[in-house]
Amino acid sequence: MRIIAIANQKGGCGKTTTAINLAAALASCGNKVLLIDLDPQAHATLGLNIKYQLSIYNVLSKLANKKARLEEIIQNVEENFDLVPSSIILSTLEQELSGEIGRESRLSDTLANFSGSYDYVLIDCPPNLGILTINAIRASGEIIIPVEASRFSLEGLGQLVSIIELVKDRLNHVISQRILVTNFDSRLRHSFKMLKEIKTNFTNKLFDTIIHVNVQLKEAQNEGKHVIKHNKYCRGTKDYLSLSREVVMHTEEAKRPMALAKKMKQILRDKMARLNEVAFSINAPDAKEVYLVGDFNDWKLDTTSRMEQNNGAWMKRLGLKPGKYRYRFVIDGKWTEDSSNPSKAMNPYGTLDSLIEVINK
Ligand SMILES: Nc1ncnc2c1ncn2[C@@H]1O[C@H](COP(=O)(O)OP(=O)(O)OP(=O)(O)O)[C@@H](O)[C@H]1O
Ligand SMILES: [Mg+2]
Repeated sequence: MRIIAIANQKGGCGKTTTAINLAAALASCGNKVLLIDLDPQAHATLGLNIKYQLSIYNVLSKLANKKARLEEIIQNVEENFDLVPSSIILSTLEQELSGEIGRESRLSDTLANFSGSYDYVLIDCPPNLGILTINAIRASGEIIIPVEASRFSLEGLGQLVSIIELVKDRLNHVISQRILVTNFDSRLRHSFKMLKEIKTNFTNKLFDTIIHVNVQLKEAQNEGKHVIKHNKYCRGTKDYLSLSREVVMHTEEAKRPMALAKKMKQILRDKMARLNEVAFSINAPDAKEVYLVGDFNDWKLDTTSRMEQNNGAWMKRLGLKPGKYRYRFVIDGKWTEDSSNPSKAMNPYGTLDSLIEVINK
């Protein structure tokens, strides 16, 4: 279950539009999606035309007249797409939680005990950096930060990023954050200037998808629908489908290193299984350093061929493939054969190499 908060304390930058339409786009491709409306303005709830007497307030508040579990208040929007509604009373939660310990983890605790099975949980945040937004950040593994390609849009962004960093550090919580450029008006030169500025400030932290200004997005919200239902061929639909593909791809990318690491482990395990451990030893209590050299290490005298000393006995264990090997010891610079091994053969220098045959176990 990927939990993604859509947050920016700046009002009207497209958080709710993104939450609703990204949720709908992910659901339209067969993903099970839960959208949590965590904004007391309840724009996502209204924007999807959901009317229900209970809300996320009844789940998070201890003072609510009617306490409820998250599972009990979920409303179905359409196939694969559910909503946890909000209501204006949620605005009182900020004050209620102000003196409580663990107030920033109320939502993450709720989600940790949640029995629902969703591919994606999206959280629509209110336009401030209060306790609700902090709860959302604390509960999420990813944050999408919608930023308008307009003047002043970058102001305050530093503050949001610092709060995310603070939650990350304080709670040892892994969060990735990415900027989504919204309300992009390609007719204005200023939009491109802003886009360039955003790109400079947030290299590698930007979605490739840009959400363009599209009146159909506004119309859909006013009609209580998501944009795909409103007009599946409009620019808004195209943009949010593209964003959903990017979000999904991010999952696959995240999985890829895991798969690679698993594969590497398997290869190593297979390799190790084919190696047989051989222990070499020689008694030389007065020696200062002893090396083991042979065909298996190209007769190299270096730190990797140095033997370990233990009470006068020098030891080295090697993983060797089945085969025949020649070897010698080098005791304080003097080359010598293994006196405890009767198997020997003359080498081109007229001295003896010790012989060993490793057989597959
Ligand atoms: N790409 C767009 N094209 C046209 N209108 C848009 C677009 N994105 C958002 N809007 C409109 O702008 C207004 C504000 O958008 P939205 O409600 O998504 O912002 P918000 O960040 O959730 O606001 P708040 O901070 O109040 O929660 C809405 O009327 C919405 O329909
Ligand atoms: Mg909103």
